[in-house]
Amino acid sequence: KINTVLYVLFVSVLALSVGCSPAPSEKSAEPDGRFDEPFRPQYHFSPPSQWMNDPNGMVYHAGEYHLFYQHYPDSNVWGPMHWGHAVSKDLVHWEHLPIAIAPDSLGWIFSGSAVLDETNSSGLGTADNPPLVAIYTYHDPVGAEAGREDYQTQGIAYSTDGGRNWTKYAGNPVLENPGIRDFRDPKVAWIGERWIMSLAVKDRIRFYSSDNLLEWTYESDFQPEWAAYGGVWECPDLFPLTTPEGEEKWILFVSINPGGPNGGSATQYFVGDFDGSTFTSESDQVKWLDYGADNYAGVTWSNVPKSDGRRLFIGWMSNWTYANVVPTENWRSANTLPRELALVRQGETYRVRSSPVAELEKLRKSSSTKEGDSWAIDAELAELLLFPEAGDFSLELSNDAGERIILAKKGDQLTFDRSQSGVTGFSEAFTALHTAPLHGMEVTELRVFLDRSSVEIFVNQGALVLSEIVFPEQPYSRIRLTGFKSSHQVHELASIW
Ligand code: FRU
Repeated sequence: KINTVLYVLFVSVLALSVGCSPAPSEKSAEPDGRFDEPFRPQYHFSPPSQWMNDPNGMVYHAGEYHLFYQHYPDSNVWGPMHWGHAVSKDLVHWEHLPIAIAPDSLGWIFSGSAVLDETNSSGLGTADNPPLVAIYTYHDPVGAEAGREDYQTQGIAYSTDGGRNWTKYAGNPVLENPGIRDFRDPKVAWIGERWIMSLAVKDRIRFYSSDNLLEWTYESDFQPEWAAYGGVWECPDLFPLTTPEGEEKWILFVSINPGGPNGGSATQYFVGDFDGSTFTSESDQVKWLDYGADNYAGVTWSNVPKSDGRRLFIGWMSNWTYANVVPTENWRSANTLPRELALVRQGETYRVRSSPVAELEKLRKSSSTKEGDSWAIDAELAELLLFPEAGDFSLELSNDAGERIILAKKGDQLTFDRSQSGVTGFSEAFTALHTAPLHGMEVTELRVFLDRSSVEIFVNQGALVLSEIVFPEQPYSRIRLTGFKSSHQVHELASIW
């Protein structure tokens, strides 16, 4: 107590003496130690406290990236969902804001998206002050409890003050439920001449269109026979990407749980065409965005109206198989690093490449070159750049407590082993070996990001990615390599708190 009082006094005097208080994004750990707890991510977004799952409604407006997220402010396990809220000017530092949207008589606030309604098509703002509009799922727990089928509907909230205050639309819900249990996660975008909503409907994606965000017309269903159906379809996202040859393709992300390639939750995607009404896939190969176990329910967005052409992505860095029981208390879950998406060729078709956004280079504090096959990593927060030789390789990160993770290439496959990564006893599934097919790709570069409870591995600039959470009692401080070139780069990274 006394320490806290002294600390607060000290900070106040300091703030007074420099004439201002520190900007939220620059402040260090809170006086109660929050943001500095064991396992607390130091440069990944995590909620100030309690439960978080999916990122929602990523939108760029007036120089700020808005991040909303599935949040239960009263517990560290999943429950009545709210939209938590944070903003960032650079995608690296985040300022936590009050909860944006809370449950009401229509239900809890499940996942969805947000758009800037530039032409005020909804009439919820004015021509001079276009509204930010959030489109989300209402989940009515009373209806669900009563055994009804139609307990998920779509609702709208809007803000005319840069996202600080949100008003629910009086005519909610804007899309009623036709009697289907899983009917959720609207992702809305301006496509062509109108708004298009992609909605997860049990085992298919359903498209709707609208001129004003308030009235929606059914367009089509997408449900190819050959896709992955191991679990319920959730969190769709439809967006364009340009091929290296300059051709526009449409990409459809669909999160599925369970049924991922390495168990539990994962995101499959389709590359093809959207004609304004119907999506068609150009190949019948199942494709996965991430072969790690911990990248789910991600959302993409572009920073229109000030577009720099990038398609950005952020995912929830956990898995429903164990998300509720991971060994953290003050908060649960973090997001992946923000990534930029691109298309690269894979045989007759394309795969989506995701690589860390360039802004993250700001985190680099100091850089060094390491030589040889065995050396110390002197930083808890680090980015490693490693160059395998042609052929098989293995990379082991370990610490004095005997905890380790191993990435290995054998033939045309990568494996990631976290069976001895640290605390693992909370879930049997957590220790399974993860595998990723290379489809003939030669591995020339590995970029590895280490935070307190995650490792993200970007193979060949993100042509293949593994996002994995781990709970080591100490940082991995040693590296052992087999099958690598002799020179490596290490960047020590700064904490954002
Ligand atoms: C995905 C999901 C969504 C739903 C939300 C509820 O992780 O199940 O389908 O809207 O989480 O929190």
